[in-house]
Amino acid sequence: MGELDRVLTIEDMKALAKRKVPKQFFDYVDSGAWTEGTYRANEDDFRKISFRQRVAVDMDNRSIASTIVGHPVAMPVATAPVGFLGMQSADGEIKAARAAEKFGVPFTLSTMSICSIEDVAENTSKPFWFQLYVMRDRDFVNRLIDRAKAARCSALVLTMDLQILGQRHKDLRNGMSAPPKFTPKFVFEMMRKPGWAMGMLGTNRHTFRNIAGHVDGAGDLSKLAAWTSSQFDPTLNWRDIAWIKERFGGPVIVKGILDPDDARQAVQHGADAIVVSNHGGRQLDGAPSTIRVLPEIVDAVGSQTEVLMDGGIRSGQDLLKAIALGAKGTLLGRTIAFGVGAGGEAGVARALEILRKETDITLALLGERDIHNVGPHNIYANELVKRQGY
Ligand SMILES: Cc1cc2nc3c(=O)[nH]c(=O)nc-3n(C[C@H](O)[C@H](O)[C@H](O)COP(=O)(O)O)c2cc1C
Repeated sequence: MGELDRVLTIEDMKALAKRKVPKQFFDYVDSGAWTEGTYRANEDDFRKISFRQRVAVDMDNRSIASTIVGHPVAMPVATAPVGFLGMQSADGEIKAARAAEKFGVPFTLSTMSICSIEDVAENTSKPFWFQLYVMRDRDFVNRLIDRAKAARCSALVLTMDLQILGQRHKDLRNGMSAPPKFTPKFVFEMMRKPGWAMGMLGTNRHTFRNIAGHVDGAGDLSKLAAWTSSQFDPTLNWRDIAWIKERFGGPVIVKGILDPDDARQAVQHGADAIVVSNHGGRQLDGAPSTIRVLPEIVDAVGSQTEVLMDGGIRSGQDLLKAIALGAKGTLLGRTIAFGVGAGGEAGVARALEILRKETDITLALLGERDIHNVGPHNIYANELVKRQGY
């Protein structure tokens, strides 16, 4: 029995990733901003929602297939953009993209990835999504959009909630960087995580390859991280959606919406879909969980656009609760990142399979056969779920 066969839950996956991945990179994933209150709330608030159990319903021939932004999906999820995925495991983005492709859900590549757009395109066969951070250097942003288009990316995910970085204490304490600095502490870590180290020796992808070699003066890779954080454009606003959309020529999904008014603005300015997200609790600490605000945002714009959500989804039950509260689909951040760290492509495949099984069986126990029929009638009203119709 392999290590991954013993992984039955995403919690197990997280524990295995912790054993395999050097501390600074595991901590980078398992952290939120400041007190981490919003990070915890994303997960905790799912537990406050109860399902309605229905029995004696024909549960044969179930389906959890759906569509997201016009793409058929085996289950209503896509992978969330996660920076530094290629530091969880060598070539992590390629591994995750391959697993997502085989499973039948979209993979989203972060601007801050280790493998480049071209690396992922060359090593996969289906279109993936590209997540865009808007930098001050508009020529560079234009070139990034053009590269995503040339790589046949089928959607652009425009992240609006990280023009300035929320402080994450663990990263500062660990001195996290890509490539990592070879301090004595890190060399000791490499000895304790030999699988990770061997993988890294086998690839030349160790830094932000969407950026390295694509901007002037970014030759010194140790300065690149500082370059990027000083480069996020603080003037990003709703009007920017239009030129980005025009240049890309495909669907633009606006990510980082937590307020109904912002949701309306995003839709008015041309978003083809929105992602209700607080960046996994990594930005505004003290903001509510995403599952808490999802219903009011669905009420505001759900009839005009596709509302996706992310934050805290660690099981099929969480996924179904999000669908019941009006999400058309969800993005998976840490669930995928832990899979990459624990077992590379096989780890992500296992994580998706765990969710698939949980979703399918829970659907049956709800007395439903088609995930499209899941709705408010499947959960109890409570202090989190006060929407009309409950
Ligand atoms: C380690 C890590 C790195 C992330 N990097 C990015 C990124 O580069 N771009 C982005 O839009 N969101 C990024 N996010 C946010 C995720 O896309 C997503 O919103 C969040 O992880 C969802 O919460 P979950 O991890 O609880 O599923 C990152 C999240 C994590 C955990």
